[in-house]
Amino acid sequence: MNTKNNDLLVQKAVFPVAGLGTRFLPATKASPKEMLAVVDKPLIQYAVEEAYAAGIREMIFVTGRNKRAIEDHFDTAYELEAELASSGKDELTALVHSIKPDDMDCVYVRQPRALGLGHAVLCAERLVRGEPFAVLLADDLMIGEPPIMQQMTELFAEHQCSILAVQEVPRNQTHRYGIVKGQPQGPDLVGISGLVEKPQPNVAPSNLAVAGRYVLTPAIFDLIRQQPRGAGGEIQLTDGIAALLNAEQVLAYRYHGTRYDCGSKLGLMQASVVLGETHPELGSDFSAWLQGRRAALELSA
Ligand code: UTP
Repeated sequence: MNTKNNDLLVQKAVFPVAGLGTRFLPATKASPKEMLAVVDKPLIQYAVEEAYAAGIREMIFVTGRNKRAIEDHFDTAYELEAELASSGKDELTALVHSIKPDDMDCVYVRQPRALGLGHAVLCAERLVRGEPFAVLLADDLMIGEPPIMQQMTELFAEHQCSILAVQEVPRNQTHRYGIVKGQPQGPDLVGISGLVEKPQPNVAPSNLAVAGRYVLTPAIFDLIRQQPRGAGGEIQLTDGIAALLNAEQVLAYRYHGTRYDCGSKLGLMQASVVLGETHPELGSDFSAWLQGRRAALELSA
């Protein structure tokens, strides 16, 4: 990484976790979607670990009603740790303690009503204090080596501008995503000239879809505030970023890794199978069971 002294680094991450998670009802009636587990870890912990791996130490959660479990998850659990320690379960004690490393700060702000992702990000404005910041949507579970957010903060250190994670999607899927229009600036970077929300395949400017990882400059806040409310009174982050394009350079980064859309039931199941197969404790038993099941299904077909 080649940074000059006055270059800015990304030190804060915003996790918008105030959505209603209606696609997972009834599971999300009383508990947050972001606490759904893939194997043995909640989605929000994967996202926080990804930000931590990128060197970020201040985690800002934009929460809503029914989200207390997230605060509890990142709080110290004295009773549980003492109980585990006194029964000699040292590995489990360390595991529970490691959820919130001592050098990591967690702060919480409420989004009073689920008025959209843009509005949720705006709720974090005061805590971001005019610095560049990361946004991670925990329901996009992103696996990469190095972790995707680390890839992005390293690029930010070099380019000092907002960066959106993008991935290629099949043409017939463009209507499900925000799609980027722009010119290539190297093998993995595109200089964005426009953003189109959920275009039909025949009018989509590319097949590069925005995924749930962003590095944004603080100029975004004023621009989100100026956006008119769309359907259902929602304020969209995409609209704020589209306005940012008129003021600053914004890059799209074709990240190296895999995304699982754990905001959908299918994506959560897919992530559970893939991470189950590679899990250090469970992997070999689970893979053997899957193989046996496939063989049994083939026999019965
Ligand atoms: P989604 O639209 O995927 O989440 O928002 P949702 O609204 O909770 O889910 P469904 O569609 O009803 O099932 C992406 C992310 O933005 C957050 C969500 O918590 C999720 O992590 N979000 C969304 C907010 O924090 N506030 C909002 O007003 C909307």
